[in-house]
Amino acid sequence: MKGLFITLEGGDGAGKSTQIRNIERFFEEKGLLVVHTREPGGTHISEKLREILLDNSNTEMSDVTEMMIYAAARAQHVRELILPALERGDIVICDRFVDSSVAYQAYGRELGDMVSIVNSYATGGLSPDITFWLDIDPAAGRARAAKAGDLDRLEQEKLDFHYRVYEGYRLIAEKEPDRVKRIDASDTVDNIRDNIYEYLDALCRSKGI
Ligand code: TYD
Repeated sequence: MKGLFITLEGGDGAGKSTQIRNIERFFEEKGLLVVHTREPGGTHISEKLREILLDNSNTEMSDVTEMMIYAAARAQHVRELILPALERGDIVICDRFVDSSVAYQAYGRELGDMVSIVNSYATGGLSPDITFWLDIDPAAGRARAAKAGDLDRLEQEKLDFHYRVYEGYRLIAEKEPDRVKRIDASDTVDNIRDNIYEYLDALCRSKGI
């Protein structure tokens, strides 16, 4: 694969959007083509699945259904948008990917190992070159997210759900330190950006970019 696949992860209110814009700028200044996308979503079909997933009126959705719809949206996204972009040599920046399903569905919903197995089919084994986990305490993040607007179906979950999600992210970062970089999201916006840029400089050097 010629391009680079970069993902951002974190709980509500971690400030992912601001840092995604900074990452875009980093690569655009190098004259590279950047594709900015998100999960669930990114393609027409996946955005339709997103509406079902985040709809507050879907209170009867079972946890396994939820997990599989996230995976279905991802399967389409990988095949229709992400892989073709990487094959062209573009930089793909994705707001959330499989780690979200592991954190929210395997740990938050307590579905366990099934989530990784289903998602390895969904992605065909595609894994990011680097993942930034914007680490914010769940209570602080939730307060920020609530201030920013209405909470969706997942965001409305109780705080103990969000602490399980947090523990999921912590374990992923511990298990895959080469790929997943923990970023202190309680720091200033500029320090977070500088921290991310250091990792990106190292990644670009290692890839000859
Ligand atoms: P979004 O509005 O994109 O949230 P955020 O701005 O926090 O990224 O909504 C995505 C929601 O879906 C978010 O609460 C996390 C959840 N989610 C999962 O539970 N599993 C997944 O695999 C993904 C991609 C997201």
